Amino acid sequence: MNVLVIGSGGREHAICHCLARSPRLDQLFILPGNAGTESLGTNIPGDPNDIELALSVARRENIGLTVIGPEDPLAAGMTDAFQEAGLRAFGPTAVAARLEADKAYAKQVMRQHAIPTAEARVFDDYDLARQYISTRDEPLVVKAAGLAKGKGAIVCDDPSDAIIAAEKMLRQRVFGEAGATIVVEERLEGREVSMLAIVSGRTIYLLEPAQDHKRLLDHDEGPNTGGMGAFSPTTTIDADTLHFIEEHVFVPTIDALVRENIHYCGVLYAGLMLTAAGPKVLEFNCRFGDPETQVQLPRMKTDLLDVLDAAVDGRLDQIEIEWDERHALCVVMASGGYPDKYPTGLPITGLPDDANRDDLAVFHAGTKRADGRIVTSGGRVLGVTALGDTLADARRLAYETVEQIRFEGAHYRRDLGT
Ligand code: AMP
Ligand code: GLY
Repeated sequence: MNVLVIGSGGREHAICHCLARSPRLDQLFILPGNAGTESLGTNIPGDPNDIELALSVARRENIGLTVIGPEDPLAAGMTDAFQEAGLRAFGPTAVAARLEADKAYAKQVMRQHAIPTAEARVFDDYDLARQYISTRDEPLVVKAAGLAKGKGAIVCDDPSDAIIAAEKMLRQRVFGEAGATIVVEERLEGREVSMLAIVSGRTIYLLEPAQDHKRLLDHDEGPNTGGMGAFSPTTTIDADTLHFIEEHVFVPTIDALVRENIHYCGVLYAGLMLTAAGPKVLEFNCRFGDPETQVQLPRMKTDLLDVLDAAVDGRLDQIEIEWDERHALCVVMASGGYPDKYPTGLPITGLPDDANRDDLAVFHAGTKRADGRIVTSGGRVLGVTALGDTLADARRLAYETVEQIRFEGAHYRRDLGT
C-alpha cells in the first residue's frame, strides 16, 4: 500500500519511521516532510493545510491511506474531503476535531456528561469577562477557545493578570479569531499526564502513557513550550488511575459524540491534571502528541500500518497492540530563542550515521535540506529518542547522542527522566 503522511514535525517523522517498518508499505509520501523524512519516502513540497493539494497527491500517487498529523488540516475538514472523494484518511472529521479546535464546545461536552474538568465560564464579551473575573479571588487560567498553536492558554497568578489576558484575547485579538471566544477556568494543581487513545467508533485503544515536559527549562521552570521532551512508560500514573481515566474521560467523551452521530476515527489525546480530587481534563487534542509520539510509537511492536488501517476500516477491536517492554526517552533540541523568536538556516552537524538503529532514532522536527546540508528551519529542531532496559539506560544513550549533535544556539533540557 502507498501511504501519504501530512505534516512536517517530529511527530510526523516518528509516524513515518514506524510505517516504514511495515512489510505492507510500498511507497511513502510526506506533505511536506522534513530533512529526516526524506530518507524514508518522497517529500512533496507544499502547504500541509492545502486540502486540494493533498487530494491531488493522493489520487496521483495511488495512495491507499493518508495519515493526517497536525490539528489544523483536521479542523479544516481534510478528512471530510478525503471521505467525500472516496479516499481513506486516518484522523477525525471537522465536527469531531472540534473537541480540540473549540475549547468552549469541549467544555460543554464535558459539563453535559459529567467528565471531570476544571470549572469554567465561556465569554465572547470583554466587559462580561472582566466583571466575572473581578468577582473571583482564586488563580485562573484564560484560554483562547480556538486553535492558537499551543500558545492559547495563559496561567494567571491572580485575577488582575487574568483580566489582562482576557483583554489581550478579546480586545487586542493577539490570537486572532481563535481568541474571539475565551474560556476562563479555575487553575488546577497537580502533576500533568498525557493519555492518548486510538479511537474508531466505540473502540478505544489506550496507548502506553507518556510524560511530556512542557516547560522550557530544567526543573519545570521557564515558559510553556510545545514540549521539550518525553518518556514512556511513566511512573506517575498507576493502573487504578488509568482505569479511572478510561472509564470517566474516554468512554463518556466518545459516547457523547456517538449520541451526536459523530463517528470518531483517529487519536484522542486528553491532557490531564492529577489533582488531589482525582484526574481532571485540561484539554483534548484530536491527534498524536508531539513529542509524546516520539516515545510512544517506537515502543509499539505491532505494525502501525495495520493499526491505522484497522481503525479506518472500523475493525480496531480485532487488533491486539503489543508494546516493547523497554523504556523510551526523547530529548528535544530547540533553536536558541525558542519559544519566542529564533534564527533558522543554521547548519546541523554530528547527526549519527546509523540513524535507524533499533535503540536510537533522531527524529527531525524543524529541519530542511539547503545546498546539500541539513539546516534548522523551526523552533523545535530534533527529537533524540533512545530505548533502554531501564529509564536510566535510555537517558544515557539519548544524552550521549545529543551531545554529539551541534547547531548554533542549540538548547535542551538536561533533567529529563531524572
Ligand atoms: P492547554 O492548551 O489547555 O493544554 O494548556 C496548556 C498548558 O497550560 C497545560 O499543559 C497546563 O500546563 C496549563 N493549564 C491549562 N489549563 C490549566 C488549568 N486549568 N490549571 C492549571 N494549569 C493549566
Ligand atoms: N506535547 C503537547 C502536544 O502535542 O500538544
